Amino acid sequence: MLELKKPKTPLQNLSSRPRRLRQSAALRESVAETHLRPADFIAPFFVMPGRGPAEPVAALPGVSRLCVDDFLREAERALRLGVRSFLLFGVLPEEAKDPLGASSADPEGPVPRALRAARKAFGEEVVLYTDVCLCAHTTHGHCGVIMETPRGPRIDNDLSLQRLAAMALAHAEAGADFVAPSDMMDGRVAYIRRALDQAGHTEVGILSYAVKYASAFYGPFREAAKSAPSFGDRQSYQMDPRNAREALKEAHLDEAEGADMLMVKPALAYLDVLARLRPTTTLPLVAYNVSGEYAMLKAAARAGALDEARAVREVLFALKRAGADLIVSYHALEALASGWL
Ligand code: PBG
Repeated sequence: MLELKKPKTPLQNLSSRPRRLRQSAALRESVAETHLRPADFIAPFFVMPGRGPAEPVAALPGVSRLCVDDFLREAERALRLGVRSFLLFGVLPEEAKDPLGASSADPEGPVPRALRAARKAFGEEVVLYTDVCLCAHTTHGHCGVIMETPRGPRIDNDLSLQRLAAMALAHAEAGADFVAPSDMMDGRVAYIRRALDQAGHTEVGILSYAVKYASAFYGPFREAAKSAPSFGDRQSYQMDPRNAREALKEAHLDEAEGADMLMVKPALAYLDVLARLRPTTTLPLVAYNVSGEYAMLKAAARAGALDEARAVREVLFALKRAGADLIVSYHALEALASGWL
């Protein structure tokens, strides 16, 4: 039987013993470098027209498409948890779509209706963000307008800007605090800024999805928003996952065009991008912990491969630690309600 005897003098004179700071939960709490508050989160919601029952999204366990009344109820629950920022996505039935995505600027669309209802119910208690993009409104499911060219069908950058600005205006008119363009067309921040200002909406801000990669991790979202492209992919407008210097270029262009906040999306495979961007801008940075990242953890937890509470906590703190001021996450409300943070 092996026996160890603790000697009277230390075996080693270590100049530093980092473990001293990890002795107890109280001590660890007092030297923790990163903190998460409910106000750090933006909760995403999918709103649909009509008054139908909530539609669970199979690919996103725990997430449903909601009618406006159900959204108000969920928003109230979020407020009780201290989350006051919401990001709204409109979901439309196939019949409401057309090639130009006209429904995106409909003042009676689900997002403008949800904005007016939330403003009426909660006033200045809430901060309302809206996703601005054509993909949930076009029959082809692309984020811009498609034109025939001698080289085949192409997304027309500048024609898309007109539609995006019209959508942003409809949201501003309905009471959005921030519009969040996620289409990745060039020059859209400047174009939307000018359109908002000309209509008198100088106080409405722009959260730019400045650094948005062409990612496999959006899969479940496209089921939720019914926005998968019917042909091709988004690589001609979203960024190549191999590029990080280009992320700085995209972010700085959008800042120069008048963005008030910048987003990096997805989050987990791009923590280096977040960390590199952080010291180069004074704007608030937002990390989008996207649908595939959420679905991955849910699936692993369900398979018994890991402890969901601890894994979610680790992921959300990682985003904050890497430099995010704000986090969009489908985990946010459950994590706060369950005391995971
Ligand atoms: C719209 C949009 C997408 C997401 C946010 N806005 C999908 C896409 O670009 O295909 C993805 C969000 C998520 O995966 O949670 N363009």
